[in-house]
Amino acid sequence: MPVQVCVFDAYGTLFDVDGAARIAGEADPSGRLGEVWPRLAADWRRKQLDYTWLRAAAGQHADFWQVTQDALDWALEAAGLQDDELRAQLLALYEELPTYPEVRTELQALESAGLACAILSNGTPHMLQRAVAAAGIAEYFDAVLSVEAVGVFKPARAVYDLVGARFDLPHGEVLFISANGWDICAGAAYGFRTLWVNRQGAPQDRVFQPPEATRPDLTGLAAHARRL
Ligand code: LAC
Repeated sequence: MPVQVCVFDAYGTLFDVDGAARIAGEADPSGRLGEVWPRLAADWRRKQLDYTWLRAAAGQHADFWQVTQDALDWALEAAGLQDDELRAQLLALYEELPTYPEVRTELQALESAGLACAILSNGTPHMLQRAVAAAGIAEYFDAVLSVEAVGVFKPARAVYDLVGARFDLPHGEVLFISANGWDICAGAAYGFRTLWVNRQGAPQDRVFQPPEATRPDLTGLAAHARRL
C-alpha cells in the first residue's frame, strides 16, 4: 500500500525546540544565559514532556501553552534565572521557533511528489498556527491537527486517531515522522508506517514498537516516502 500522506510531529521534528533559549543566549554571550542556555533548553524540553505525560496519566489536561510555561518556570528556577522580562522574551521566541534547515526543501519535494502533508502535535491550534506562519510553511500542509481536539496528550491513541478522522485512510497509508523516540514508537505500535528522525544520535527507545526506518534528519524524506 503506497503512502498517501506524511504526518509530522511539530516540536523537535519541524521546529527547533532549542531555538528560543539559543537565540536569547547567543544575544547575551557574556551574560549568565549565554553560559547556561543549553542546559536551560534541555531542562525546559524535558519538563515540558514530563508534564504532558503526567497530565495525561492523571487525567488532568492543561493545554500545551500552559505546560510550556510551567516547564519554563521550572527550568528558569533551576538555572537561577527567574526574571519576568527574560521569561516573556523566551516565550515570545518559542511562539516563532526556527525550523530545522532542511525542512522547507523536503516539504517542497513532498509537494512535487504529490503527497499530502499534515502536522499532528501536542501544540495548541494557536501555537501551531503561529509557528507555521512565522516559518512561512503553511502552504505545504493540508491539515494541522492539534491534540486539543481530544483533550489529551500523545501518546494517547485518541491523538493518533485524529489522522484517520481527517484523511480517512488505513494506518498503513500514513507515514508518521517524528524526532521524538517515544512518539515514533507509539506511532509504529498504532500501525502507521514510521520514520524516526534521530537528530541527536540517541539510542532507540525501548517502548511500544521500534520505528520502521531511521534517518539523521529529514533530508531525502520525499524519496524515502515515494519508495514505500
Ligand atoms: C509535539 C511534541 C511531542 O509536537 O514535540 O507533539
